[in-house]
Amino acid sequence: MMPVVQLLRAALKHAGNRPPRCVVQTTSAAHGVRTHASSCTDGDKPKVLITGGLGQLGVGLAKSLRRRFGKFNVILSDIRKPPNHVYKNGPFIFSDILDYKNLRQIVVNNNISWLVHYSAVLSAVGEHNVALAKEVNITGFHNILDIATEHGLRVFVPSTISALGPSSPKDPTPDLCVQRPRTIYGVSKVHAELMGEYYHQRYGLDFRCLRYPGIISADSQPGGGTTDYAVQIFHAAVKSGQFECNLRSDTRLPMMYIDDCIRATMEFLEAPEDALVSRTYNINAMSFTPQDLTREIQKVLSDFKVTYNVDPVRQAIADSWPKALEDSAARQDWGWRHEYNLPELVQTMLTHITLGNKLASAF
Ligand SMILES: NC(=O)c1ccc[n+]([C@@H]2O[C@H](COP(=O)([O-])OP(=O)(O)OC[C@H]3O[C@@H](n4cnc5c(N)ncnc54)[C@H](O)[C@@H]3O)[C@@H](O)[C@H]2O)c1
Repeated sequence: MMPVVQLLRAALKHAGNRPPRCVVQTTSAAHGVRTHASSCTDGDKPKVLITGGLGQLGVGLAKSLRRRFGKFNVILSDIRKPPNHVYKNGPFIFSDILDYKNLRQIVVNNNISWLVHYSAVLSAVGEHNVALAKEVNITGFHNILDIATEHGLRVFVPSTISALGPSSPKDPTPDLCVQRPRTIYGVSKVHAELMGEYYHQRYGLDFRCLRYPGIISADSQPGGGTTDYAVQIFHAAVKSGQFECNLRSDTRLPMMYIDDCIRATMEFLEAPEDALVSRTYNINAMSFTPQDLTREIQKVLSDFKVTYNVDPVRQAIADSWPKALEDSAARQDWGWRHEYNLPELVQTMLTHITLGNKLASAF
């Protein structure tokens, strides 16, 4: 175990300088000031359903959406049993996106107006089970599209750096470019981008899609993606002071802290329709290699050691991905701004994990 008091002191010293973050902000776009918050009045609150809500991202998004629209206006759903604290914190419902009738019933019975579609089988897991990835990411997504169109929903679907491939420009990758991914996960996400845009243009579906970088969070675990190392490394640094990394030390990938990801999603969901020139946007925050990340962690935990044992499947996936995403359209059209760069990310992650461990051992 690392010297916890020393670590806390160092981490808090830096993290303490940061202002508290609000989740939905007034944003100013390059061509004029726009207040997204005003796009939703008290009598006009959306009723939101989140599918696949028990993964790395869903619980955090539900928390922020509930703060904004009220606890009972945001329903989390998944095929797994929720942990107690999630079950107690707001509405939770079983929903398998492969069950069309059940999904439709949930939308109708709960008067759903926005659907956040998080269910997915991610990149590394998908390569080990192509049939499952195809079923959940493509067949399941068709159910979402049809139900959203039938009931006039606003539907948000995250895409990913996996939707790019070895022939895409890599540094940075623009919104529009060649997309020939080599994983079933990536192929399914290109399919989602194109089908969503087609349904928008053909049937007027309010489809919204952001290409997320790898997302880093302290209190939720990643679900089998290629960027998982960037979460696991922090837990290892605090717990044992050593980490075995499954990507090469020079693998540079785009990443984002979860608070930025959630805020981007909320602001994009609330952006007025006429601000959206496109329906699929890149969003970017920072890019780093395992070596960059290790050095930044070592500024706080000087004894931290990293060894490398490269997983060829994950490395091949990572080598085909962008090093950075070009996101000027998101910044211009609906006012996207990231807040966390690498030093803030490291300080925040170490602080959260250290405090979390201390609290857990106190009970
Ligand atoms: N986490 C990241 O770094 C990242 C990056 C880019 C894009 N995304 C996208 O964001 C979304 C959420 O990602 P995440 O990291 O929370 O994923 P995750 O793998 O942690 O969670 C996915 C959830 O989907 C659920 N699920 C699987 N099959 C289902 C089914 N048939 N019906 C309903 N639910 C089902 C799982 O139980 C799981 O809780 C995904 O669409 C993912 O592609 C995530």
